[in-house]
Amino acid sequence: MMKKVVLAYSGGLDTSICIFLLKERYNFDEVISVIVDVGQPEEDIKIAKERAERFADKTYRIDAKEEFVNDYIIPSIKANGCYEGYVLGTAIARPLIAKKVVDIAKKENAQALAHGCTGKGNDQLRFDFIFSLSGLDIIAPIRDLNLVRSWEIDYAKEKGLNLGINSKKPWSIDENLWSRSIEGGRLEDPWFTPPEEVYKWTNDPKNSPKDPALIEISFNDGIPIKLNNKELDGLNLIRELNKLGGLHGIGRTDMIEDRILGLKAREIYEHPAATILISAHKALEQIVLTKEEIFFKNMVDEKWSDLAYKGLIYEPLFDDINAFIDKTQERVCGDVRLKLFKGCLSIVGRRSPYQLYQEKNVSFEEKQNEKVILSEYHGYQAKIFKNMIIEGKN
Ligand code: ARG
Repeated sequence: MMKKVVLAYSGGLDTSICIFLLKERYNFDEVISVIVDVGQPEEDIKIAKERAERFADKTYRIDAKEEFVNDYIIPSIKANGCYEGYVLGTAIARPLIAKKVVDIAKKENAQALAHGCTGKGNDQLRFDFIFSLSGLDIIAPIRDLNLVRSWEIDYAKEKGLNLGINSKKPWSIDENLWSRSIEGGRLEDPWFTPPEEVYKWTNDPKNSPKDPALIEISFNDGIPIKLNNKELDGLNLIRELNKLGGLHGIGRTDMIEDRILGLKAREIYEHPAATILISAHKALEQIVLTKEEIFFKNMVDEKWSDLAYKGLIYEPLFDDINAFIDKTQERVCGDVRLKLFKGCLSIVGRRSPYQLYQEKNVSFEEKQNEKVILSEYHGYQAKIFKNMIIEGKN
C-alpha cells in the first residue's frame, strides 16, 4: 500500500525540509503539502506554492481567509482576545490550518499528518490537539529528530532549496490577517532592542504622519461592520485598518511571553487592526454593559483567551463561554470614535442606542435625583438598567 502523508506547509525552512525528511527518514511514498491561506502576504503564498509544486508530490492551496475572519477573528473580537496583554494571532489561526490539513488527509486517504513545529513552541501542541482528533498518525520531523536551525539551513542547501535565510536575518516570522509575529536570532536576547527592519506592517511613530487620523467604527452585536460610516465586510475592514493603523505606527508589542509549556520567550508582534478593533469594542462594552457584567466578562474573556492560546477550541468550556459572550453582545451596538497619532490610539467618542450612561444622571449641571440614596443605590441602578435593557433603547 502507498504510504501517504499530508503536511501543513508554509513554504518556510522547517516545513520545506520536512518534505524531504518525510521521504528519506520516514519512508513515505507520497507527501501532499497543504498551504492554507489565512492572510499571509500574497508573495509568501506564491513562493510556497512554487516550492511545494517543485518538491512535494501533490499540493493544495486553500483560501481560508473568510472562514478565519468569521469563525475565529470575530469571536476573538467579542472576547477581547488577548493573552498576557497582547492580541492573540497565531494561536487562533492554527486550529483552522490544522482542520484544513485533516480534511485533505481524509479526502486523500492518507495514513498520517505532519507539521513542521519544533519541540519548544506552542504551535506543536495546537496542531497535535486538532490532529489527534482524526485518529491518524502524527509526525513532527523537526521535533522528533531534534533538529537545530543551523543543521536545517545546511540540509536545505544540500537539497537545492534556496530560502534566502542568512545568519544576519534569521527571524522566524508567522503572519496572518490579524497579526504578525517575529522571533528568533538576536531577538532571543530580551535586552536587545528590535531593529526597525523586523517591522513590516507598522511605521516607526517617528516617521508617521504629523497630523492625527480620526476614525469611526460601528458595531452590531459586537461585530464591527462599518468604518467611517461605510459598510465593509470583515476581511476588507481588517485590511483597511491594518493599513491605516500601520501608517500611524499603531499596534506594536515587544514582550516576554509565557508559553504553554512554561518556557518564557521574547516575542515581537504587529497587529494594528486588532489593536484598533479590540480597543473600540471594549469602549463600546463599557457604555452598554453594567459594571457587574463588565467585571464578570473580563474574567470570562481571560479564560477564553487562555483556552484559545492553548488551541483548546474543542474543550466544551470554550463553547459554553462563547454562548455567554454572544448573549452579552446583543447590546454591543453603536459607534466609537478613535484618534490615531504617532503610535498612540485614543478613544475620543462612543455612543449606543443601548447605552446605560445618561447625561442627566451624572451631569454636574443637574440636581441630585432624590431617589438615589446610597442604601437604595443598587436596587435603583438595577431597576433603571433593567428597564433600559428591556425597552431596548433609551
Ligand atoms: N508566540 C506566539 C504564539 O505562540 C507566536 C509564535 C509564532 N511563530 C513564529 N515563528 N513567529 O502564539
